[in-house]
Parts: sequence; structure tokens; C-alpha cells
Amino acid sequence: MYDSWENLKENCIKCKKCQLCETRHNVVFGVGNPNSEVLFIGEGPGENEDLQGEPFVGRAGKLLDKMLSAVDLSREKNIYIANIVKCRPPKNRDPLQEEQQACMDWLRNQVKLMKPKIIVCLGRIAAMQIIKADFKITKEHGIFFDKNGVLLMATLHPAALLRNPAQKPGAFEDFIKLRDKIKELCDHTY
Ligand code: URA
Repeated sequence: MYDSWENLKENCIKCKKCQLCETRHNVVFGVGNPNSEVLFIGEGPGENEDLQGEPFVGRAGKLLDKMLSAVDLSREKNIYIANIVKCRPPKNRDPLQEEQQACMDWLRNQVKLMKPKIIVCLGRIAAMQIIKADFKITKEHGIFFDKNGVLLMATLHPAALLRNPAQKPGAFEDFIKLRDKIKELCDHTY
């Protein structure tokens, strides 16, 4: 157990638990307000994220920021954003199960320190790792699952929305449900 966010980050950025450390430029620990009550979890860094050391800074990230802002959320203020794997998988392939397992300990420690009330999974990979192994993103996005008092929900990955804009209204509905749940549950000072 780590006693502080800084201590956890210091150790995480030196990680060599899997082969992704050999090709990364930066460990992408996360961004946002670790004192907030809502944690977003993506899949893993892409090229821009690997180079800049921050999650969701490419095109998908711009779309994510827009959707967040529509429901009064932002990485600068009231959420934290992390990924299942903190180093870029080469050529943006899906992270292997062994890479996800090796990295999950960092995320578990982030959750222990942050104690979020709500976790939002961005896309299938995060939902299968965090909610349940047989999660079906097209059918089950927008549904809240209670896991030991923490509410878990998944929405479509913003990169998937860029590929298939017809899915945007459905994803937007998820953000509205999220906003309502935050109003109900969080001691927000938004
Ligand atoms: N996609 C993700 O899942 N995470 C990022 O940080 C960037 C793109």
C-alpha cells in the first residue's frame, strides 16, 4: 500500500513489470484531480499519449473533453482519468491479458487512494477488466453496476465514436445518466 499519490506515481513511472516498458517513451500514470469522486478508465496510451505522458490527448481525447464539458466535467477540475495499461502497446494493438494483469496493481492502488464513488470505463477493454469478463459494450453501456458500494458504468470508447459517429447519441445518453448519478451521489462542488 502506498501512503500518497506522489509516492505511488514515483514508483509507477519506474515500472518494468511487462514488456511494454521496452518500447514506451513515457509511463502515462493519469491526469486530473485525484481528490475527485469520479474516475474514468481507458484502455491504454496511443502514440500522442506515449509522447506527451498524458491520457487522451489525441483526437479521441478532444472528443472525450467535449462530451465531459457538456455535463460539467473536466480533467482540470472534477474527475481523474487513467488507463488499464499505462504504457503504449506497439502499433496500438489491444493490450495482452498478461500486460493488463501486470499493470492492474497500479490501478488498484490508484483506486484505493482515490476512493471514487463512480468509475466510468471507456470502451470494451476497460469494461471487461473492471466490470465483468463477458461485458458486452453495445448492449450494456450506460448501465450502473454496484461493486462493493462503488458504481461502475461503461460507455463507448471515444475512438470508436470517431470511427462510427452513429453511436454518438447513445454515448451522450450515458453521459447524461452519469451527470444525474453524480448529482444524486457525489458531494460535488461543481
Ligand atoms: N485511448 C485510451 O484508451 N487511452 C488513452 O489514454 C488514449 C486513447
